[in-house]
Amino acid sequence: MKSIKDIDLQSKFKNTIVEQENDLRCERCGNLYDYVKFSNGSEEHIGCDCKMIAMAKDSTSNHKEKVKREKINSFFKHSISNKDLKNATFDNYIPPNDNLDKSKGLIQRYVSEFSMDSEHQRSLLLQGSYGIGKSHLAMSALKEIKAQGYSVLFFDVPQLISTYRSTYSKKSDMTERELDKIIQDADFLVLDDYGTSLSAYGKSKMFEVMNLRTGQNNIFTTNNSEQELTADKDLSKIFSRMMKNTTTIKMSGEDYRLKK
Ligand SMILES: Nc1ncnc2c1ncn2[C@@H]1O[C@H](COP(=O)(O)OP(=O)(O)OP(=O)(O)O)[C@@H](O)[C@H]1O
Ligand SMILES: [Mg+2]
Ligand SMILES: [Zn+2]
Repeated sequence: MKSIKDIDLQSKFKNTIVEQENDLRCERCGNLYDYVKFSNGSEEHIGCDCKMIAMAKDSTSNHKEKVKREKINSFFKHSISNKDLKNATFDNYIPPNDNLDKSKGLIQRYVSEFSMDSEHQRSLLLQGSYGIGKSHLAMSALKEIKAQGYSVLFFDVPQLISTYRSTYSKKSDMTERELDKIIQDADFLVLDDYGTSLSAYGKSKMFEVMNLRTGQNNIFTTNNSEQELTADKDLSKIFSRMMKNTTTIKMSGEDYRLKK
């Protein structure tokens, strides 16, 4: 026999209730709830707050993601020092030869395939001589990835190392661990001008940074050859981490700076 409560519930829904159990206890949220099943197969737990709790959690974690992204992007704004690259885009990079045309195409493809999916995170190593557009193209990629809504960072290596050093100062508004976290959390990092002329401190920092970034989305640029980048044990350890899921693009051409 239908109780008054059953009839009451039915009046609230368009679909016919075909099954109902009242005053059940939800093991997760602890609330009493009524279970109803409708003629169209859908079910409701009326009185159970689990769905709402999950929705609230989801929006806080979305919120946290957003805050994290904004923090990295605001840090990014302060980290850009190179005026040369301020206006760099794919559009204003005019490849002077086939190799650089192909390189540009590969970097654009990297951008179009960019993904935060852990299985699809990849890196590029742009390798070649001076003034051929490695930094220009890395910055162009960064701008497009940022425009897609991802958090991005751009550091040239000496600048990153000096930023790390500055965290030891009493005046610093950021601790070393906070900088680690910013670097680790960025969706995409450009590490520009990585090279072999590093101090012992520089090497150990780069090792730590590579550990933070290995397997994520990065573009590295360098003037050094693979042989140079593996010239000693410390460099080799850095290089081996750098090369995880990384494609090398060998770039060659004349120095654009000299032409101008
Ligand atoms: N093909 C090009 N079209 C337009 N601008 C270019 C081109 N190649 C280089 N440039 C410009 O020349 C300058 C030097 O290029 P960039 O800094 O990208 O060189 P690089 O390969 O990173 O050199 P380095 O190894 O010295 O860091 C930049 O201002 C860049 O915008
Ligand atoms: Mg450069
Ligand atoms: Zn519940």
